[in-house]
Formats: sequence, structure tokens, C-alpha cells
Amino acid sequence: MKAIIISKPGGPEVLEMQERKIPEPAVNDVLIKIKAAGVNRPDLFQRAGNYPPPPGASPDIPGLEVAGTIVTCGANVSRWKKGDRVCALLSGGGYAEYAVVDAGQCMSIPDNIDEAEACTIPETVFTVWNNVFQRGRLAAGENFLVHGGSGGIGITAIQLAKAFGANVFATAGSKEKCEACIALGAIECVNYKEKDFEEVFIKEGMDVILDMVGGDYIPKNINLLRPEGRLVFINAVGGSRGEFDVRTIMKKRLTITGSMLRAREISFKAALAIEVEKNVWPLIESGKFKPIIYRRFPLREAAAAHALMESSEHIGKIVLMNE
Ligand SMILES: NC(=O)c1ccc[n+]([C@@H]2O[C@H](COP(=O)([O-])OP(=O)(O)OC[C@H]3O[C@@H](n4cnc5c(N)ncnc54)[C@H](OP(=O)(O)O)[C@@H]3O)[C@@H](O)[C@H]2O)c1
Repeated sequence: MKAIIISKPGGPEVLEMQERKIPEPAVNDVLIKIKAAGVNRPDLFQRAGNYPPPPGASPDIPGLEVAGTIVTCGANVSRWKKGDRVCALLSGGGYAEYAVVDAGQCMSIPDNIDEAEACTIPETVFTVWNNVFQRGRLAAGENFLVHGGSGGIGITAIQLAKAFGANVFATAGSKEKCEACIALGAIECVNYKEKDFEEVFIKEGMDVILDMVGGDYIPKNINLLRPEGRLVFINAVGGSRGEFDVRTIMKKRLTITGSMLRAREISFKAALAIEVEKNVWPLIESGKFKPIIYRRFPLREAAAAHALMESSEHIGKIVLMNE
């Protein structure tokens, strides 16, 4: 099969197409013929050498989410059969023509979306469901702020939080990106390059904040939180250290938490898949949650897809298509 491999740590140019053996499913796995694969920011960190794949994942083929058709099932797999259309969360190996994955990490593709749209769902929806709704306990009527609102995680967080009745706020890096966040359901979006989001949002206050920036955002986020507020980290691209006054945490009874999805155990991901199918699939089927594709590339142009994501020009998801 054709696969994109990371030939060595570096820029987009280190991505190369190579011929690889089609992987063999173990007893609990399925083999998927991939039609489309989603590109996620963690793929770029892996390519640069800053995010090693967890044990058991492909060592050099990136790709955390795919959609396609099941080709074969391991001996213990009962839910799926050859020909089923699925999307799946992977711990790597998605930039290829085939991938194996535990059957529990597959979900059937809703009838109203195609494979290109379906492949954009697993990584962001699993991350948002776990961090915003499970860890962050976001409830209807609460105020929710997501940083990076126009990226893959951001567009997912805005749509899901809005669908579950939260008042949604966002930050993003341009006027056009802010307009996109508002079109998706945000009440207000701050262009962080022009305004201080803490000053703008201090009057509302936030119950839950999803942050991937860290650094100097940490004290600002903490100041913005209302009593009993929850701050959830999924990355710290602006710096993993920050200063804050512990007395503020005590006074407002705040919760600071966070998580990393990729290295979590198979049973955790399978349980999350069940929750996601139960809670998010009806929103996709009713059109309340829409996958948003910014651009599609053929698989062989994965380097161009990475360069586009690195530019941060995109609004929504970037997809790699098998021809
Ligand atoms: N912990 C986990 O399990 C997990 C899972 C998946 C992803 N993640 C993390 O989540 C982040 C988003 O991933 P993604 O795939 O959605 O990437 P993405 O599509 O590239 O989105 C990231 C967005 O953040 C924006 N941004 C960067 N700095 C910002 C700032 N200071 N304030 C506001 N916006 C800022 C970027 O555009 P602008 O700066 O131009 O607005 C970009 O739109 C990544 O850091 C990734 O590592 C974590």
C-alpha cells in the first residue's frame, strides 16, 4: 500500500510517500481501506520530532483519524462486517491506503455525510467530548470560552457547546476567523492579535475554558473563571509554565485539569466512542453539527497539507484523500 512516512524529524518536506505492507488485523481489530484521513495539529508536532507515537502505534506513519470501508475483521469482532462504512480514531498510521484499529474505536458513518467529512470527526470530537463535557462538565446555560476557535478543535467545541445550550465565546487570530466562529454559534470572538481577551470577557466571566495556549494565558484564564469554574488544558503552545495566585483558586473554588487523548488505553477510547455515538451522532444526523472542510489534498500532497496547517491560514479541517 502507499503510505506517507516521516523520513526524519523536520519540516513538511520530510513527509515522503513509500510502499508499505498492508497491516494485519489482530483478533480485536478491523482492517480499513481508507478513503480520507484528517490532518491534525499533533501530526505536525510528531513530524517535527516533538510528539513521539505511543507504544503500539505506527512509528513513522502519522494520522489520527480516518474514514473508509472495512475490509477484514479479527476473529473476536462482532459489530462490524466487510463493506461497512466507518470512521475511526487511530493512535497513528492514518496517512495511508489501509490501517488497522481496535474495533471499539470505529463508528458508523452517518448517512448524511461522506467519508471526507466523516474523517474530520474522531480526533476533534473525542477530544472535545472528553475535555469540555466530561472533564469540564459544561452544562446548558453556562459560559464557555475556547481559544483557537477557528481550528479543528475550535470549530468542534463551538458547535457542540452551542448545541448543548452553552453560551459560547472564542478567540482567533483574524477578523475573518472571528466571523467564522460567530457564524458557527459563538456569541463573541476576540481577535487576540488586536485585543486582550481578558479585558473583553471579564464582564461575562466563564464557567469553562478550553485552552491549548497556556503561558501568559494561564493567569488571564484563571481571572476570567467564575466561582466553581473549570480550566481544561489540551496543549500549551504558548508555554507550559505560568504564574497564578493560588488564593484565587481557593476563593473561587476552581478546577484546573487537562488530558492527552492519543496515549490513552483502548478501553478508554472505546468507552468514549460509545458516548460520542450516543451524544454527537444525533446532532450530525440532524445537521446541528457540521464537519467543516477547509481544503482537501491528495494523499501524496501531505507535505502541502502540513504547510497549509503550519501557516494557520485554515478555518476548519484539512483532509487527505486517497485517489
Ligand atoms: N490533548 C489532546 O488530546 C489534544 C487532541 C487534539 C488536539 N490537541 C491540541 O489542540 C490544538 C488544536 O489542534 P487542531 O488540530 O485543532 O489545530 P489547528 O486546526 O491548527 O487549530 C489551532 C488554532 O489555534 C489558533 N491559535 C494559535 N495560537 C492562538 C492563540 N494564542 N489564541 C487563539 N488562537 C490561537 C490557530 O490560528 P490563529 O492563531 O491564526 O487563530 C489555529 O486556528 C493543538 O495545540 C493540538 O495539539 C490536543
